[in-house]
Parts: sequence; structure tokens; C-alpha cells
Amino acid sequence: MPVINRMVELQDDIAAWRRDFHSDPELLYEVHRTAAKVAALLREFGCDEVVEGIGRTGVVGVIRGNKPGAGGAIGLRADMDALPITEETGKEYASRNPGLMHACGHDGHTAMLLGAARYLAETRNFAGDAVVIFQPAEEGGAGGRAMVEDGMMERFNIEEVYGMHNLPGLPVGHFSMRPGPIMASTDEFEITFRGRGGHAAMPHLCIDPVTAAAQCVLALQTIVSRQIDPVDSVVVSVTQFHAGKTHNVIPDAAYLNGTFRTLNANSRAFTAKRLREVAEGIAAACGLDVEVIHDPTYPVTFNHADQTAKAAAIASAISGEDKVETQMPPTLGGEDFSYMLERRPGAFIFMGNGDTHGLHTPRYDFNDEAIPYGASYWAKLVETLRAA
Ligand code: NI
Repeated sequence: MPVINRMVELQDDIAAWRRDFHSDPELLYEVHRTAAKVAALLREFGCDEVVEGIGRTGVVGVIRGNKPGAGGAIGLRADMDALPITEETGKEYASRNPGLMHACGHDGHTAMLLGAARYLAETRNFAGDAVVIFQPAEEGGAGGRAMVEDGMMERFNIEEVYGMHNLPGLPVGHFSMRPGPIMASTDEFEITFRGRGGHAAMPHLCIDPVTAAAQCVLALQTIVSRQIDPVDSVVVSVTQFHAGKTHNVIPDAAYLNGTFRTLNANSRAFTAKRLREVAEGIAAACGLDVEVIHDPTYPVTFNHADQTAKAAAIASAISGEDKVETQMPPTLGGEDFSYMLERRPGAFIFMGNGDTHGLHTPRYDFNDEAIPYGASYWAKLVETLRAA
């Protein structure tokens, strides 16, 4: 069973939707035009229910199967939002919105799930409900959480939920996944050291926040290198350091921020605790005040073993076992599909985008050649898991 023939027939339509979304990228929850087009297409396909405004600008479509027998619904999720990046692809369908770009392929994710919805609404060769989920604000806005908190799982009786992301560098037609943690928790932090500024020639009359903050940057690295089990993966990255305005004045304050990533809840809690203790300890040693703000954003994206095995079997049926990696190493990027996986069992997998520029870069483009694989995966997932 390779890709579904009908998906090959639909490829041009799906690519046209994809390029239309690509030319008009929208940020976070502001995906108004995208969501309206998604809802209009779902209605045109004959979905039994199309609900807008879930999680502010999310869209959900329900397609009822024709086979007897049911069980809870299968949820299939795509993301709709773009990024604040200026596009440099030079494509004829490049972004018309200055400073905004579909640089993560969410245009392709949305279009492939629309293609699957059209096919499933035409054929209905399954039992129970297929629920297609189009979420806003994946890129840092927790749109997945917003949909879950709006009661989506209960309202549509979703029993299992599946997500997919394209991956540059993985050949088209290949799939990659793993059970357990596949993507990291993504916490942000801000640390402000407040001392007493003054003349740079008289440091003894000041309390210097710059040297304290510099010590802190280095000491934070010892959380990972000296305190976390070396076989566990954690990243602490300080990405901003702001202090002072000129060469001969010691400033009053120094500001750091950054992110830390972990693959399990224990390391996440431990890192948060140590981050605060290190900053407070250095402040105490240097005699200044410190404020630590910890903003826990996305949790670990944790794939459930049974659902990941089912995802692997379907990907293998489409592409052949030799093109499906089932034990990929986890990545320390974040993904807010994690909130859906906290509520329901499911699996998040990667699909090859071929030899393209990387995600979140100005020359990245979703690869339309991947469309039949991704759309077939969605359709076969429903047809196989709800065969009767
Ligand atoms: Ni993405």
C-alpha cells in the first residue's frame, strides 16, 4: 500500500491551497484569514460539523464514517501560524506580508490535513468520527493549550490524537519518530541583578551587577555539566545579556534571559530550582539584589508507546519499513502539541521535507512533493484505526 492514488490526484489542489496560505502568512492567534479559508473548505468538502473559534481562532471539522461500530474519535492536528521572519525564497507565491513568513511549513501542514479531510469526506470508509484540528499560535502562543482548555477533547469525544511536522534533511517519503519524549519542555527565564552604579574608576564605591551577571552566565552551565545525569539531556542557554550604556559608567543593573530545555518533568523541576538558587547565591556572594522570573512554557512532547507503534505501522505501509525511523533521537526543540498529548494518548511524528533550507530560516520552503505522503498518512491512520 503506497500513497493513496486519490491524494496524488488531489496534489495540485492541495499545493494550490498551500501556496495561497504561504503568500498570506499570519502570526499566532491572528490567523483570521487562514482559519476562515480552512472552515470554508471543510464546509465545501461536506464535513458533518465545522466549528470555528475554538482556542480563539482554531477550527475543528468532524467527518462521520460510514462503517458500523465506533469508539471515540481520532483527532488529527495541523498548525496554521507563521513566523516574524522576512522571506528570501524569491518564489512567485512568496509572502505578501512584510516581515512575516511561513518558515516552519505550517502552510503545508494545514493544506495536507485539508486534503485528508476532503478524501475522508468523499470516501467515509471508516467507523466513528475523524476530527480534523487546525490550531493557531503554535509558535510560542500555546494555541494547542487554548484549544484543549476550551474543552475540545470532551466536546468532540476525542480518544486519541496525532500530530505531524515536516523535517528538512529527511528525504521526502521518509518518516521519523520515537516512543517516549520526542521534543523538549521549553522554559524561559529572566534574571535581573540590581547593584549600585557609579564611576567606572571607583568600583569600590559601587556594587557591580556586570561581574555578578557574568559569573551567573558561567555558573548556569554547571547545572547541565555538573548536576544533571550525563545520560539525561538538558540545555541551558543564556541568549541575552544587557547592561550599561557607555564605557566609563558602572550600571545599576544587568539583565539576562534565556531558555532551558529538558526531556522529563524531574529534570525540568530540578533545573528551575537550581537556576534560581545559582542566581540568588551569586547575588548574595556579590552583595546585590536579584529578581528571577521563570516562565514555564511548553511541556515535554511525550509520545505514547501504543499510538507510536500504530503510527509507525501506517507510515511503513505507505513508504516501506526501510523509510521509517522508529527510534530517532529526541530533539530539544519545543512543540505545543505536547498539551494535547498530556490530555489524550497519541503520537507526534516527523515527515521528510527533503534537502531544503532549515526550519525558521528566510529561505525555507515547504516541499510540495511531500504532500501525497503526509495526506495519505492522515487518511490511512483513520481508515486503519477505525476499520470497523
Ligand atoms: Ni513548526
